[in-house]
Amino acid sequence: MSPSAASAAAAAGSFSNLAPSPAAAAAARRRWAAARCSAAGGRVAAASAGPILRELQRRCAAPLPVLRHVADAMAADMRAGLAGDGAGDLKMILSYVDSLPTGNEKGLFYALDLGGTNFRVLRVQLGGKDQRVVDTEFEQVSIPQELMYGTTEELFDFIASGLASFVAKESEKFHPLEGRKREIGFTFSFPVKQTSIDSGILIKWTKGFAVSGTAGKDVVACLTEAMKRQGLDMRVSALVNDTVGTLAGARYWDDDVMVAVILGTGTNACYIERMDAIPKLQGLQTGSGKTIINTEWGAFSTGLPLTEFDKDMDNESINPGEQIFEKTISGMYLGEIVRRVLLKMADVSALFGESVPDQLSVPFTLRTPDLCAMQNDSSDGLKEVGLILNDVVGVKKSSLEARKTVIEVCDTIVKRGGRLAGAGIVGILQKMEEDSKGLIFGKRTVVAMDGGLYEHYPQYRNYLKDAVAELLGDEDSKHVVIEHTKDGSGIGAALLAAANSKYRER
Ligand code: BGC
Repeated sequence: MSPSAASAAAAAGSFSNLAPSPAAAAAARRRWAAARCSAAGGRVAAASAGPILRELQRRCAAPLPVLRHVADAMAADMRAGLAGDGAGDLKMILSYVDSLPTGNEKGLFYALDLGGTNFRVLRVQLGGKDQRVVDTEFEQVSIPQELMYGTTEELFDFIASGLASFVAKESEKFHPLEGRKREIGFTFSFPVKQTSIDSGILIKWTKGFAVSGTAGKDVVACLTEAMKRQGLDMRVSALVNDTVGTLAGARYWDDDVMVAVILGTGTNACYIERMDAIPKLQGLQTGSGKTIINTEWGAFSTGLPLTEFDKDMDNESINPGEQIFEKTISGMYLGEIVRRVLLKMADVSALFGESVPDQLSVPFTLRTPDLCAMQNDSSDGLKEVGLILNDVVGVKKSSLEARKTVIEVCDTIVKRGGRLAGAGIVGILQKMEEDSKGLIFGKRTVVAMDGGLYEHYPQYRNYLKDAVAELLGDEDSKHVVIEHTKDGSGIGAALLAAANSKYRER
């Protein structure tokens, strides 16, 4: 694995505490030290970071016409992906979920959620229409960094053993039924080609994962085999993407939920589609005539305002040319884009004085939560910004001017990300409305949202909402509610396990 891939993998936990591996850090330092020796002679006064900043702002601008173009292109790509596999950037994956939770679900169900640097296990006792969620418990375990680029068996054994120790702690508040296996909803937040509600093949890893041997395999079989090795006799009844879990979980409480979006380390969206609007189904219809489509919008790439920094980051990434929308708007990458801009400013315009700190040259050292903390520094003299620059990227001394410039760089990248995410959401709503007039606009429509980036970064959230309002106009945006549904995907997966239980009365 290349050094930049290793450090990208480390940064998959943009909202956790992972650091790049020492080998990756040293290799990156050496590369940059060599490059800087030749550039040092050209470094000029701090004030000349201005032209780089202005050029960045110009290139990252996402005014209304750009947003409109992105929304239209998103809608067009959705249609292409529904028409046939491989017809566009968007995979438009069938979820095989054709009935949404009704509220009648009853019994004890488990959920297991793998999607970033942590995995979560959860159990929920469902009490049907009147009692709904009677009790729930969960645990979160962080995944050791080396497992993110180890073997399939190592990763799944680790997960299964975490699940086994959680199940062993089941208390009497929960009521498994005699003679029945405990059932699990498995949230697996990577692009999977579903083959049924309880099986699916990993297409590729994203978010810095590079586990060998998993792509092309059924991830439910991988988990089932690992559970067997742990002596755990459970059954995976539903395999779901985190967006699909979020939609199902949110819909359990609110019938107006039509779309779910994740904005965290990675990004994605899903929505409810009419089966007769999916040409690649070739007329196949089941149950309600509706299903959930996992767009995998992270792979979208049309019309995005990109810069040299984005292109370099992509070229050096573990998956060049892939996940371009994700690399522009999601939590794993915003910090890294800013780091690249600051490095150029430090290098050619002496933003931080004569020397460029080694740490600033290490890929993925600056993380999105650092940007958030800096942008929300309200102290005199921007002390927090100074501290973060010192602690995280090794800038010993920074002038007030330099700190202000850093904040402007953060704001430029975060504004572009939030606005483009908003355009993506409008693209989905637009496509749904075009197909069924009155389905979305002119009535309450809820977009369920989850993910640390949206939850913890107020500026990002506001930029996103502004873009949605600008695109929809006053009247339509009044009815579109973007609702944060924290951890809905776990309960959602358990609900889908219940809805697809092997023991369900048909
Ligand atoms: C994955 C999606 C997932 C999203 C959010 C992306 O990298 O491809 O499947 O839904 O991250 O977790």
